[in-house]
Amino acid sequence: MYFGADYYPEHWPRERWDVDAKLMKEAGFNLIRVAEFSWAKLEPSEGHWDFSWLDEALDVFYNKYGIQVVMGTPTETPPKWLMDKFPEIYRRDENDLKFGFGSRRHYCYNSEVYREYTEKIVEKMAQHYANHPAVAAWQVDNEFGDHKTLYCYCESCRKKFIVWLKKKYGSLDALNKAWGTVFWSQTYTDWDQIIVPKRSQAGKPGNNGHNPALNLDYSRFQSDAIADYCALQCRIIRRWSKAPITHNVVSELYDYYKLGEQIDIATYDNYPYLRMTPHPDLSERIYNPAFQVDQLRGVKHKNVWIMEEESGPCGWNALSSTPRPGEIREWSYQAMAHGAEAMVYFRWRACLFGTEQYWYGILDHDGVPRRRYEEVKGLGLDFPKLCAYNVNSKVCADALLVRSFEQQWTHTFQEHNLKFDYRKYLKGLYRGFYANNYNLDVSSEETDFSGYKLVVAPAFNLMDERLKEKFEKYVAEGGNLVVTFRSGTKEMDNSMTERTLPGYFKEVAGIELEEFDSLNTRTVSVEGAFGKGTASIWADIIKPVTAKPVATYVNQYYAGKPAITVNEFGKGRCYYVGCDLDDAGTEQLLDYIAKECGVKPALENVPDGVEVVRKESGDGREFWFVMNFSGKERTVDFPCEIKSIETDEALGHSVKLPVWGCAAVAKV
Ligand code: GLA
Ligand code: ZN
Repeated sequence: MYFGADYYPEHWPRERWDVDAKLMKEAGFNLIRVAEFSWAKLEPSEGHWDFSWLDEALDVFYNKYGIQVVMGTPTETPPKWLMDKFPEIYRRDENDLKFGFGSRRHYCYNSEVYREYTEKIVEKMAQHYANHPAVAAWQVDNEFGDHKTLYCYCESCRKKFIVWLKKKYGSLDALNKAWGTVFWSQTYTDWDQIIVPKRSQAGKPGNNGHNPALNLDYSRFQSDAIADYCALQCRIIRRWSKAPITHNVVSELYDYYKLGEQIDIATYDNYPYLRMTPHPDLSERIYNPAFQVDQLRGVKHKNVWIMEEESGPCGWNALSSTPRPGEIREWSYQAMAHGAEAMVYFRWRACLFGTEQYWYGILDHDGVPRRRYEEVKGLGLDFPKLCAYNVNSKVCADALLVRSFEQQWTHTFQEHNLKFDYRKYLKGLYRGFYANNYNLDVSSEETDFSGYKLVVAPAFNLMDERLKEKFEKYVAEGGNLVVTFRSGTKEMDNSMTERTLPGYFKEVAGIELEEFDSLNTRTVSVEGAFGKGTASIWADIIKPVTAKPVATYVNQYYAGKPAITVNEFGKGRCYYVGCDLDDAGTEQLLDYIAKECGVKPALENVPDGVEVVRKESGDGREFWFVMNFSGKERTVDFPCEIKSIETDEALGHSVKLPVWGCAAVAKV
């Protein structure tokens, strides 16, 4: 059970460490994360190591106050001496522009020399702190992929890409065939001719103009490179230390399921206001953190930690709003509800210098504890009681939303319609469920579907026989599957399928597509048993074979044709959703499908603007987190007697929540 803050002892005079540790202790803290940007302090010049300052900090925080640490490896910020010595470590962008020194994440994951220096510093740290009782866990690097750093186009990357391709294809003939290089005279006759997809003559922002198969393989390769770089650090740490290894997974660009295989605990950096600036949409601000933490829980199919939680107004240049009284606690409850077992706040105190000098945390620049400190402290004191239920608990989720990186990458380079964005679409579906308090799991297509009543696989475009069998088996055995437009049109190498659409889903969905309409300035109305809505991105014109219509188009030349269908297949059924829908339509449709499939919300009749998550504790007790985001007072009724987890007080059948209020309640 961990509660704490991100702390940078190197930013403050030693005399202050004791003051900070004491304030932390009084607020119920037992953890700080340290060192993740401190390479230049630990190795001021090549081979000269200095751990003394960090040792002394641990003496104060751990020996004197019992506060443990997450020890971060500082590889996000390689120091100047190293970059000057080996400028080839710098990343190169798609325009072949070499990044320079001065911010962070300026290195290439594929640089051999960077990997050597990484090994050295990680080994030194792991060795030095191997048996230090202060170390509760390790954090490898920091936010891989952040600042849009999935792709690098340097020569080290090209060389390694060739090795990766040789392993995948075995021969150039196989590669040429899979990539379709006969198109536009792209045939490769020597491995060393292979290119990386920098921006091409025909490219424009967002579309580099390259061969789709090359783009997809390059995404897979760069994503693997991140996982491999993480694995390198994990191997070294594990040689020395038994403490669990974490990484703060924030970027949604690389395949974090593969990275998840390397680490022990996935952590998330949760900034509800910040992630939405500069134009925060109120509703997205509210459900986005829920979506993100659910996604994170899917990384390892287990609970997560929050490694950075917003605790003040923040930003590098422009600031997000100040958390309203109660909001820090409420955000923390929301994160815990969705699977966070540990809460670590970013940052303890606003720094006086550096790029993040505007980034407020629990304390302001003057280090004086005020309202935000008191709020965090209040939660710190309740935290053990919450943990008694929440640690090892699970979210009661009957439905799985499939979140696939393969699908994301193919849609990223070719979005089908300028308004289509895979991640937004996915999030829109999540929102549709969230609006009616359906709790979901969110994870990859490799997840075991068998325990779910409902599996939703949006825009599942790349397909093969293996996945076809998996989806069909799930449905045949009684599962309910939802697939949507732009599913099954491609093979795994990113070539188009020759099958009649929806390709590999044709049998399970029991339909054929006659045509489709990419809706640009047009819209089309859709009506049916679920309610009604409007499509403005895509409309598949469906010919049912064995399926039955659930909804039809109301206008356009395909008025009267099915837009959404359902097909009985074995013991289960498959819904095919041929169009996008506005928010209200999406909510109605998902509510209709959930009900048809016997999926229940966390609670019925929840007042507007209140989120409820139903959970089961490790020892089988039923409990709920309830968050009031409505901006008004709310009362939430339960069908059973409940008690407050924080106070043990019996509440009868309802809980009252003030503005920005939240509660954790258990069945009596
Ligand atoms: C990220 C990083 C932190 C800090 C905050 C604020 O989440 O992991 O180091 O930079 O953002 O920018
Ligand atoms: Zn590179």
